[in-house]
Amino acid sequence: MTVKHPSGTSNLMDNISIWDAYIEDATNGYRQRRYFFYLSGCELPDAYLIYEIATDKLTLFIPPVEPDEVIWSGLPMSPEEAKAKYDVDDCKTTKEVNPHLASESESAQSTVYAIQEQVSDEITFLSYKDKEFSLLKPAIEYSRVTKSDYEIALIRKANVISTDAHVNVMKAAAKAKNECELEAVFLKSCVERNAKNQAYHSIVAAGENGATLHYVHNADSIQNQNLLLLDAGCEVDCYASDITRTFPIKGDFTEESLAIYKIVLDMQKQCIDALKAGVVWDSIHELAHKIAIKGLLDLGILKGDADAIFKARTSVAFFPHGLGHYLGMDTHDTGGKANYADKDSMFRYLRVRGALPARSVITVEPGIYFCRFIIEPYLKDSEQSKFIDEKVLEKYWSVGGVRIEGECAG
Ligand code: GLY
Ligand code: MN
Repeated sequence: MTVKHPSGTSNLMDNISIWDAYIEDATNGYRQRRYFFYLSGCELPDAYLIYEIATDKLTLFIPPVEPDEVIWSGLPMSPEEAKAKYDVDDCKTTKEVNPHLASESESAQSTVYAIQEQVSDEITFLSYKDKEFSLLKPAIEYSRVTKSDYEIALIRKANVISTDAHVNVMKAAAKAKNECELEAVFLKSCVERNAKNQAYHSIVAAGENGATLHYVHNADSIQNQNLLLLDAGCEVDCYASDITRTFPIKGDFTEESLAIYKIVLDMQKQCIDALKAGVVWDSIHELAHKIAIKGLLDLGILKGDADAIFKARTSVAFFPHGLGHYLGMDTHDTGGKANYADKDSMFRYLRVRGALPARSVITVEPGIYFCRFIIEPYLKDSEQSKFIDEKVLEKYWSVGGVRIEGECAG
């Protein structure tokens, strides 16, 4: 299978660019570098890629046969096989990278572009007139925001597998005893369809554990709990899915959990309906807060004037994270321009700011949580507590958290 490499990234680079692949984190197993994969579609480790901008020529360099290694791992892919599999103009072995670079620079007096931390010590750029190590990375990050049909198809495929795995967890939940059993159901469903990598660590959170946004212990009993929050998604060919569902473990909501679920579902549906190319994501996030405020006012958890509550940012106590993020080769994909130093609590964790370009893929993941650590400071602040009815709130702590997440491609 091949991935089209984007020619659009060449605008910033006059002459030649090089990327390499390596093992990023041995303890987590092998994960292909995303910058490398984006331009090559090649999942092999210890490979290199050179793009000669002037001639629009992409050359892949893959490890040669190492007899000692063959004993353990079998024969590696040959350059001929790699050239047929990947969408590259030529394929050689890594022994040829340095001679290739030297010969290219001789005639061209070229500039070489590379990503600072992603070129191995084996590579020499000595013969290059100029070296530019800061432009390439942001150029690729910018390009990655807009997806090709092929990339969207991979994300969809990952989502189809993850959706089925979610359904399998829902079916297994009533008879399960512990969060980890359900994590295993999810992983089995993905792995048996050859989706062996997860896009992120699964969150399998029963009851009040659902109030911890990135809960990953997944080891508590689910007996005597009402809701399970499952946030889990596999990868397909390095492209991520990201799905959250919250459902009653035994099939029946409580009055309180159903009320919160309905508000979050309404937040998600209305926000998805408002999406279109060019829309400002900050305003969709605001819409989600406004719907949350209305719902929490209707339940009596919040009290007072909706506009005043919005201005005071009281709803952040219940919906503390951003509405979503770009999705692609990384779960929290590049190019979002987040401002984690934003003094406005409503926007601090919004991972995407500004207008959404056509062909971007974004998650829509509203939530309402009852997390004591987050809400209690609001109860101690008179400017906030005047909008919260503590007596009504008392009935909702056991709901934990509700989040509903899916992705939209525009
Ligand atoms: N699904 C995990 C996250 O979006 O952070
Ligand atoms: Mn997400």
